[in-house]
Amino acid sequence: MTTDYSQLARDLLLDLLGRGLTQRRLSEGSGVSMTTITSILAGHTATARTYARLRAFSQESAVTPGRGGAGRWSSERRPRKSKGGPTKVGMMVRTLVMVKPDGVKRNLVGACLAAFEGEGLGIADLKLLTLSPERARELYRVHRNEPFFDSLVAYMSSGPVVAAVLEGPDAVRRAREVMGATDPAEAAPGTLRALYGESIQRNTVHGSDGEEAVEHEVGVIFGPR
Ligand code: CMP
Repeated sequence: MTTDYSQLARDLLLDLLGRGLTQRRLSEGSGVSMTTITSILAGHTATARTYARLRAFSQESAVTPGRGGAGRWSSERRPRKSKGGPTKVGMMVRTLVMVKPDGVKRNLVGACLAAFEGEGLGIADLKLLTLSPERARELYRVHRNEPFFDSLVAYMSSGPVVAAVLEGPDAVRRAREVMGATDPAEAAPGTLRALYGESIQRNTVHGSDGEEAVEHEVGVIFGPR
């Protein structure tokens, strides 16, 4: 009988993430890249060597739920202090993220949501929908004077998107960190846009950029609350 290292690695990752470790901490501690971790979570193959590294890390860190460095709201997950900005540091806040049509078409919904969840952001609401051009225009109204506006609206209404309301301390900033820079060519390695983005427009994921945007975008997608 052959050992299914992919399944073992996935189970181990889910267990560690469930105990409060972030994907980044897991990657740093085990030496397994963020890309590999995201891809295992999305159902891709893991080698025996990768599993061995994850297992060694899990045994070394001997994480216990709710205690020490791995508790649910431990310092590990507590957001770094920012110098002001649009989010309330340390408070449970919401943000809106969206897997765009290019991401849904390429079956990347699971991988994208796993990356946000892996950072400790919880899903408070979730919806699969196709935006009408009018709704896309309303969603992106701040960009209405940009030269790329019409093409952005056409693209965003070209197929289904998956929108999620995420909750967690400093959610806006942390979700944006998981996504990386708008232009995939400039996004940090391991971020969703670096991994999956096809172009500055077809950049796989969207995330609100501040409290005002969250209110507006959640309203457009999920209706008034
Ligand atoms: P998003 O984070 O959804 O916010 C606005 C979107 O506009 C952005 O991601 C890109 O999809 C798109 N966008 C931003 N800049 C450009 C650009 N220069 N050309 C085309 N599309 C762009």
